[in-house]
Amino acid sequence: MIEFFHVTKIYPPGIYALKDVTLKIRKGEFVYITGPSGAGKSTLMSLIYRGTRPTDGKIFVRGNDITGIDNPAKLRREIGIVFQDFKLLKHRTIYENVAIPLLIAGVKKEKIESRVNYLLNFVGLFSKRWAYPDELSGGEQQRVAIARAIANDPYILLADEPTGNLDEEMAIEIIYLLKEINLKGVTVVLATHSTEILSLFPARIIKIDHGEIVSE
Ligand SMILES: Nc1ncnc2c1ncn2[C@@H]1O[C@H](COP(=O)(O)OP(=O)(O)O)[C@@H](O)[C@H]1O
Ligand SMILES: [Mg+2]
Repeated sequence: MIEFFHVTKIYPPGIYALKDVTLKIRKGEFVYITGPSGAGKSTLMSLIYRGTRPTDGKIFVRGNDITGIDNPAKLRREIGIVFQDFKLLKHRTIYENVAIPLLIAGVKKEKIESRVNYLLNFVGLFSKRWAYPDELSGGEQQRVAIARAIANDPYILLADEPTGNLDEEMAIEIIYLLKEINLKGVTVVLATHSTEILSLFPARIIKIDHGEIVSE
């Protein structure tokens, strides 16, 4: 599903964010990417959806070499992403936030409503669909962000420190929700510096430090 071959990422003026990283994440896997702050976790995630380009090496997603592609639009349609800071549109309702990726993808109006309702039920927020992000707790906002990320049925869900702004109870809910999505067949990659998160349930752990894989 995701393959890195000897991937190096250097940010100007010469910061090695990743050094010669080779890894393979299979279809349907749930993988933690862990390591201290500055280890290169976000850079690794960003390379998968082409938020940034590798300096050296090759990256394959679903068998396609994405190293040299100029237009990542198709790649990004196949990948859902959630971040630490939710990135919801403040002046849009919860319903609208989840509907937007469907509108962009050209889904028909009558299908959008049933899909959004399904997604909001799935994350337990149907009753809050006419609220605005500021009216929700952090955990609820992250659940909206997850509903939005999976709206177009991605093959891969990337979560970069999704629990970084949440207390423990909310963090646990989020991790279990990601696990539930994984059980539906979505490949999930979760980056976290928190070792407590890793102990919530067993899954493959890729540990990086100073841009290098230090253990699997
Ligand atoms: N856009 C950027 N420009 C320059 N340096 C960056 C940029 N993004 C990250 N870095 C540096 O690359 C290294 C890895 O960062 P990052 O991938 O964000 O690590 P993590 O997510 O594990 O905290 C750090 O030294 C960071 O300062
Ligand atoms: Mg990071």
